[in-house]
Amino acid sequence: MTSRNRRFILMVSLLVFSVVRVCNAEGPALVQNQYETSCPKAEELVRNITWRQLKARPVLAAKLLRLHFHDCFIRGCDGSILLDAVDNVTKAEKDALAHTTLQGYDEIDEIKTEIEKLCPAVVSCADILALAARDSVSFLPYLDYDSIPPFKPLWPVLTGRKDGNISLASEVTGANIPSSFSNFTTLHNLFASKGLDDDDLVALSGAHTIGVARCSLFSNRLYNFTENSDVDPSLNATYAEFLKVQCPPNNRATTVEFDPNSSSTFDSNYFNILLQNKGLMQSDAALLTDKNAEKKVEKLQKSKDFFKAFADSMKKMGNIGAGSAGEIRKQCRLVNPQ
Ligand code: HEM
Ligand SMILES: *[C@@H]1O[C@H](CO)[C@@H](O)[C@H](O)[C@H]1NC(C)=O
Ligand SMILES: *[C@@H]1O[C@H](CO)[C@@H](O)[C@H](O)[C@H]1NC(C)=O
Ligand SMILES: *[C@@H]1O[C@H](CO)[C@@H](O)[C@H](O)[C@H]1NC(C)=O
Ligand SMILES: *[C@@H]1O[C@H](CO)[C@@H](O)[C@H](O)[C@H]1NC(C)=O
Ligand SMILES: *[C@@H]1O[C@H](CO)[C@@H](O)[C@H](O)[C@H]1NC(C)=O
Ligand SMILES: *[C@@H]1O[C@H](CO)[C@@H](O)[C@H](O)[C@H]1NC(C)=O
Ligand SMILES: *[C@@H]1O[C@H](CO)[C@@H](O)[C@H](O)[C@H]1NC(C)=O
Repeated sequence: MTSRNRRFILMVSLLVFSVVRVCNAEGPALVQNQYETSCPKAEELVRNITWRQLKARPVLAAKLLRLHFHDCFIRGCDGSILLDAVDNVTKAEKDALAHTTLQGYDEIDEIKTEIEKLCPAVVSCADILALAARDSVSFLPYLDYDSIPPFKPLWPVLTGRKDGNISLASEVTGANIPSSFSNFTTLHNLFASKGLDDDDLVALSGAHTIGVARCSLFSNRLYNFTENSDVDPSLNATYAEFLKVQCPPNNRATTVEFDPNSSSTFDSNYFNILLQNKGLMQSDAALLTDKNAEKKVEKLQKSKDFFKAFADSMKKMGNIGAGSAGEIRKQCRLVNPQ
């Protein structure tokens, strides 16, 4: 072997080695109940406070679920969505235009404050968000009852995430956060870039069985959609008339429920109405434009099947960026002082 060849092989193996290091990204994977010994009551306390908050404000479940999703899709699930801007020049993720309707920051702060009293500097903000998202959604069926129910988690949350210390509005782009106008190809590519497949895309879209969206995000489907048709032909005509009443022309800010007849229930009805062409946004309707995705939509019509698929995909989503270096923030809005 010539010395040039040897040098080449050395360079390639160094390169491969460092790429593998970056992908493996330092540190252990997530585990079941990371805080079992370091803070045994942590998960119970997150749950208690989340449930208290949810009883006072049931729409919080949708806010926390969406917040966790947006956290995971930018830099992995590292609590970067929770960070405030450090100066008036560099905007944080939460300051991005596309994030004006994200909520839940105060509620996460409240949980974090209580957790810090119990076990200072042990539980990451990213884990608190992942747990609170799960707990709030799991509690929805019990809102009508007076007593605290036995805990039935809708999906497992592994823990051990570290908090990142970078949050940039400039990273809230179409490469990280899908838009309501995205077509299937765009959604597929974006989710694939996060290690999520089309089954995950379909199952996770079922999150839109709760919560609301502003008229501005879908009213293009109601008025002047094309030269030939006022209304998006892929939208159910009866439903379009209903939406026009909710969203008169030029009304951008009014919010409309994704799943009008069961908006506060976490169930598979999103898929039922989707198949009647009542997906609210183009990105919802887009799931019917791909043969395999459409098949998956059909499969998730029963809540039992949806819950199982959603649990699997939430576990995958919650694992994005797992093992990355980071810290346990003392305050979720601030990187720890040096
Ligand atoms: C598939 C691609 C997705 C797109 C294009 C999308 C887009 C959107 C948009 C535009 C809104 C309304 C925002 C507003 O009115 O300002 C919204 C709301 C929401 N999204 Fe998604 N989303 C997607 C996937 C997900 C996933 C994976 C989750 C969670 C697992 C999720 C959970 C939610 C929830 C719960 C709401 C309601 C929030 C509320 O009521 O305030 N979405 N989404
Ligand atoms: C959570 O709430 C239950 C019921 O009120 C209570 O018994 C328990 O002590 C609380 N746990 C924590 C860690 O606050
Ligand atoms: C940003 O500007 C406001 C008003 O000009 C000021 O009160 C605030 O202290 C500034 N914040 C930072 C972090 O510089
Ligand atoms: C999907 O959207 C992207 C970006 O807007 C566009 O480039 C692409 O042509 C679209 N694909 C289809 C099949 O419409
Ligand atoms: C639709 O297009 C017509 C003709 O260009 C225009 O007068 C009208 O204001 C548009 N309507 C909306 C809701 O944009
Ligand atoms: C909600 O229920 C009403 C009354 O049964 C029905 O007319 C309407 O089509 C339903 N909405 C959707 C989106 O399915
Ligand atoms: C459109 O909605 C109506 C009323 O909710 C429903 O009866 C009909 O089956 C839907 N049409 C399609 C094509 O799904
Ligand atoms: C950022 O995070 C690293 C751990 O990943 C930590 O060592 C460092 O002190 C943090 N803070 C700042 C201001 O960089």
